Amino acid sequence: QTALIHRFNGIPFTTRSSPDLLKSLDAFDAREDDILLVSYPKSGTHWLAQIIKQIYTPKVTLTSPIEFGDISKVEELNNLSSKRIIPTHLDYNMLPSNFKVKQCKAFYIIRNPKDTAVSMYHYYRDNPNLPTIDSWTVFLQLFLRGDVVCGSWFDHFLSWEEHKNDRNILFLFYEDMKKDLPTVVKKMSVFLGVNISDSEIKEICEKSSFTEMKSNVEKENSDPNHTVCALTSNRKLIFRKGAVGDWKNHFTPKQNKMFEEMFNKKMKLSELLASKQKLSKTL
Ligand code: A3P
Repeated sequence: QTALIHRFNGIPFTTRSSPDLLKSLDAFDAREDDILLVSYPKSGTHWLAQIIKQIYTPKVTLTSPIEFGDISKVEELNNLSSKRIIPTHLDYNMLPSNFKVKQCKAFYIIRNPKDTAVSMYHYYRDNPNLPTIDSWTVFLQLFLRGDVVCGSWFDHFLSWEEHKNDRNILFLFYEDMKKDLPTVVKKMSVFLGVNISDSEIKEICEKSSFTEMKSNVEKENSDPNHTVCALTSNRKLIFRKGAVGDWKNHFTPKQNKMFEEMFNKKMKLSELLASKQKLSKTL
């Protein structure tokens, strides 16, 4: 059970991220044209990856997360000759400093933390790489304490939010993507400096719909090289409901109150959320 998890810099990681790899990451050699795909788990990482891959078509390699694997990972990434799209769940402080020095472009995807918690709860239950969880009530307590893989949602978000004015980082909201995907795809392509036509955008949106992605995954054999989450190699575990507001089916009024108290306390200084009024509106 607990053997599935170890802590590094105080943050819980699964044993699929070896301590040796985590230790070596700070010396990681970034390239100026690397693109980072950053998220707290269950925020829509696979969705975003699917879109970016299509914006670039064949000329890029979507790698597995930088923190996934053992020390050989560094060499594997060094050996790639094509442009690299690198997913990661690392918080800003743990991001290899070379990415910061070279000002690599990064996407940070945010999802309503209540839906994120629910998604993560189901993931814990289905994923053999994660500890067993007795109930939703127990899980929610762990989530609020930051006692889950990748640590506290609040701390993760806040560590990246501090860099909201960095020109190389684009913040995207899961809820915006659900509401109006073409606009988000357009914004992404402009940020990447890639020209795509409206009909290409339309096609990208069709190919990255939840139904399309879920049915594609059911047809394929699990290939660990294709997962963009450090927590599983089984893509079939990723596509559950893909909805906004599923938290309403899980939270009791008391749990909701507890969550909001914590949210308001922690997010007091979050200008990004205040100005967008996004998450608080759905909260
Ligand atoms: P649910 O568990 O709520 O269904 P990640 O990729 O970061 O692990 O996030 C997984 C969550 O994103 C899952 O949420 C999954 O269903 C949802 N998701 C994946 N692809 C999606 C898509 N094309 N549209 C909407 N949601 C998607």
